[in-house]
Amino acid sequence: MGSIEFKNPATTTLLELVKSRRTYYNLKAESPISDDAIDHIVQDSVLHVPSSFNTQTSRVVLLLKEEHKKLWDIAIKVMEGLVAAGQVPKEMFENSTKPKLEGFKAGYGTVLFFVDYESLAAIKEKFAIYAAKFDPFALESNAMSQYFVWLALESEGFGANLQHYSPLIDEDVRKTWNLPESWKLDAQMVFGVPASEPGEKTFAPLEGRYKVFGK
Ligand SMILES: Cc1cc2nc3c(=O)[nH]c(=O)nc-3n(C[C@H](O)[C@H](O)[C@H](O)COP(=O)(O)O)c2cc1C
Repeated sequence: MGSIEFKNPATTTLLELVKSRRTYYNLKAESPISDDAIDHIVQDSVLHVPSSFNTQTSRVVLLLKEEHKKLWDIAIKVMEGLVAAGQVPKEMFENSTKPKLEGFKAGYGTVLFFVDYESLAAIKEKFAIYAAKFDPFALESNAMSQYFVWLALESEGFGANLQHYSPLIDEDVRKTWNLPESWKLDAQMVFGVPASEPGEKTFAPLEGRYKVFGK
């Protein structure tokens, strides 16, 4: 596709941001912006990302610095427990899992994304015909928040990656930060100043993945 001129230059900026967002695993415990600015981005994701019927089912926790490190210490401790119980091979943990978790810990912060499925009870009753749809809708809305935060953090000079250590860490996370039982953890977004470039990425051709009609 040749270069397209959009009516609003912000569209070009947005598309550039979408294209430049990547998964960064090697992160430093540094921040290019203030903690208030990070806080603002995450708050905006909670307030402004859409949800089905405006149910507002996402719950988000921002962990910075020492609190962020606590999270990855929890994951390391839980995985060590699995090794001790013989559920994870020690060699795999030492050579692969532990260095990866230490890598996350070396970042600046983590955003925890939860869904409060219990808050959907009333609307499931009211719109019984849609009842089975509300849980997936809630997860879709949560994923939109994740993507928004990922883009915004990278726009400000962070690198980020998306992790899924639920349900392994759920109990400890809830207790450590005294979170409601109804908050179901979905994803953990780790961020920090990138210490290296992201890995190579390949793209399957658009043909077969996208169709346009009426152009
Ligand atoms: C829904 C979803 C779940 C993902 N889960 C993980 C994960 O658990 N661990 C991980 O390291 N990366 C995870 N990723 C990152 C993908 O592997 C990554 O986005 C993909 O390989 C494309 O690379 P890029 O982010 O650099 O564009 C996830 C991404 C998405 C969208």
